[in-house]
Amino acid sequence: MIIYKSDQELEAMRQSGRIVARILSELEPLVRPGIRTRDLDLYAEKRARELRAVPAFKGYRGYPASVCVSVNEEIIHGIPSGRILQEGDVVSLDFGVLYEGFFSDSALTVPVGRVSAEARKLVGAAERAFARGLEQMREGNRLSDISAAIQRSVEEEGFSVIRQFVGHGIGRALHEEPQVPNFGTPGKGPRIRAGMVLAIEPMIALGGWEVDVLEDGWTAVTRDRSLAAHFEHTVAMTPNGPEIMSARARDEAQPRPDVLKESPHA
Ligand code: MF3
Ligand code: CO
Repeated sequence: MIIYKSDQELEAMRQSGRIVARILSELEPLVRPGIRTRDLDLYAEKRARELRAVPAFKGYRGYPASVCVSVNEEIIHGIPSGRILQEGDVVSLDFGVLYEGFFSDSALTVPVGRVSAEARKLVGAAERAFARGLEQMREGNRLSDISAAIQRSVEEEGFSVIRQFVGHGIGRALHEEPQVPNFGTPGKGPRIRAGMVLAIEPMIALGGWEVDVLEDGWTAVTRDRSLAAHFEHTVAMTPNGPEIMSARARDEAQPRPDVLKESPHA
């Protein structure tokens, strides 16, 4: 069952989304050579608590951290560790919070220093696919119009769409109905209407779409170990049209030095 949100509930989700946006904005400039992936997780968890939000992923089905940090061939669910990021890596950061009863969820992929032209194009393609999907978020369209637009966009750029993981409804639960695949034929599924809130999240690869999950039980990698990228926002269909609840503001891309200095490698 799809849970449609009232205007009041949309306002709460907007506040939740702002917190995720702000923390991801602050994390982005920390992604540079020499930082440990765990430092990014510690930063996000601390900032979430300062902003009176609860990290959404920690403890979810036993996931051990607040952020998913997925490097290179890792698609999603990378567990933060002592791994040190290096120039040329591409790093997906996926983060969600629970704030006043409502979840929000967002991800982006960040190049570490200078990366290959191919990597840059892949990272851009994930965001462009999201944008093409979002264009289909129109009253009266059907859900699979979003899916089909994402697939078309990714494949036109010569990349592949991961099938094993999908976007989702979001609200009082991190994962609600409906599932939002990043592939499919248009014109199917429920109609899009006000109150629907979706986490739209293309996951794409340079090579094939097949996935392996590593021994840790979480980290999803491309089977051919080609580079992957991920881009996600929590998006609401409001009475005034589509709205990106987790939209980042440029002027927030500044980590808090006080939080930072307690991470020795940051
Ligand atoms: N964005 C991911 C999702 O929607 C984050 C979940 S990570 C988990 O499923 F650890 F919480 F599972
Ligand atoms: Co999600």
